[in-house]
Amino acid sequence: MSYYEITGGRPLSGSLAVHGAKNSVLPILAACLLVPGQCVLHNCPNLSDVSATLDILRLLGCRADREGDAVVVDASALSRWEVPEHLMREMRSSVIFLGALLARLGTAELFYPGGCELGPRPIDLHLSALRALGAEILEEQGALVCRGGQLRGREICLSIPSVGATENAMLAACGCPGQTTLVGAAREPEIIDLQGFLQAAGARVTGAGTSTIVIEGGAPLRPAEYRVMGDRIAAATYLCGAAAATGEIELTGVSPATLTAVLACLEEGGCVLHTGPDRIALRCGAPLRGISPVRTAPYPGFPTDAQAVLMAALAGGEGATLFVENIFDSRYRHVDELRRMGADIQLAGRAAMVSGVGRLHGAAVCSTDLRGGAALVVAALGAEGTTQVSELRHIKRGYQALDKNLRALGAEIREIP
Ligand code: UD1
Repeated sequence: MSYYEITGGRPLSGSLAVHGAKNSVLPILAACLLVPGQCVLHNCPNLSDVSATLDILRLLGCRADREGDAVVVDASALSRWEVPEHLMREMRSSVIFLGALLARLGTAELFYPGGCELGPRPIDLHLSALRALGAEILEEQGALVCRGGQLRGREICLSIPSVGATENAMLAACGCPGQTTLVGAAREPEIIDLQGFLQAAGARVTGAGTSTIVIEGGAPLRPAEYRVMGDRIAAATYLCGAAAATGEIELTGVSPATLTAVLACLEEGGCVLHTGPDRIALRCGAPLRGISPVRTAPYPGFPTDAQAVLMAALAGGEGATLFVENIFDSRYRHVDELRRMGADIQLAGRAAMVSGVGRLHGAAVCSTDLRGGAALVVAALGAEGTTQVSELRHIKRGYQALDKNLRALGAEIREIP
């Protein structure tokens, strides 16, 4: 098992191009199933979650090849509609294939995505949205058998603005004759990106980025070429890394407008920020100060995916900050690991009170999940001494070349096989 060895205290400096967004590329790859032809996706990050998605596409009969930072998918020969259990278990977001297969083939057989490190993650909203469009879904011993004999567009109300349920409903609705209006939709930038791809393929979808999305479905889609947006959570991770280690970095290829809530926190903590249309520069000369309560919320609120990395940066700063995690039940698993590095964090249900200790110290720690693992790297960049971060498989699900990128910014980090 490999691990990162990180010696903290080296200020970061330099410029970095942020890779494409994991949470955009996964639904867009599934959306390629709707196109009986070749699609080219640029800025497609090389992540283990992306490889797993390409494996599913190939298994379904598609051609799916990486060419540098692009991925070419040809779903002309799509011939299967079952995603086997082991691939569903590998990645929860594979539930998105339900809507895509239903739209293209009118049938899909999947398995429940299984347990998750963030606590229970139900898919009831995904299923009720698809049922509302006319899909018949049988649930038997973990298997989901969906038939879309009488699919028809209509109004769907989501009781929670679930990102995945919004995407699943958008894809299924593209295959339904008539108009679907999705009320209470998630407003995340990745939903706008999915809409961008679908529009490029000729779909009539509008409203993404607001809570009402309208889809005129039933028309066949055509081959498209599309560039995936920059990864706002990877960007937040590098910014928090520079805030923990101090220094001055510039990120390109990411829109600051997608990170407003995170940038406001870093600014309040003492960082100086400059932004342009597709760039963010951060300067941090002293330990972060405690800030007003950070409450995770659906977009445009503070993203749950950036909670752990910001907490790591503040834990090694000065002053207290209250975090409230409102999206997932079990998203503080990094806290015990941060405590091994000297962090003072008190947990009470959804709340975490972080009292900055001035400086964390190195320790042997273990990634518990994707963003929790990234948080340990952020903490280590500012810590005194050397930290070993293990269970890198979590981190590699969502970060391309994290160690190489941080080394280029001056960090002392290497992967020990
Ligand atoms: C997506 C992101 C994930 C991010 C999350 C919230 C991808 C691949 N993943 O996950 O990184 O942390 O959005 O921004 O894009 N819920 C239900 N029933 C459902 C679906 C969701 O109760 O059928 C609840 C969840 O338990 C959670 C909340 O809704 O409490 C939000 O989850 P959701 O937005 O669906 O997250 P994901 O799409 O799984």
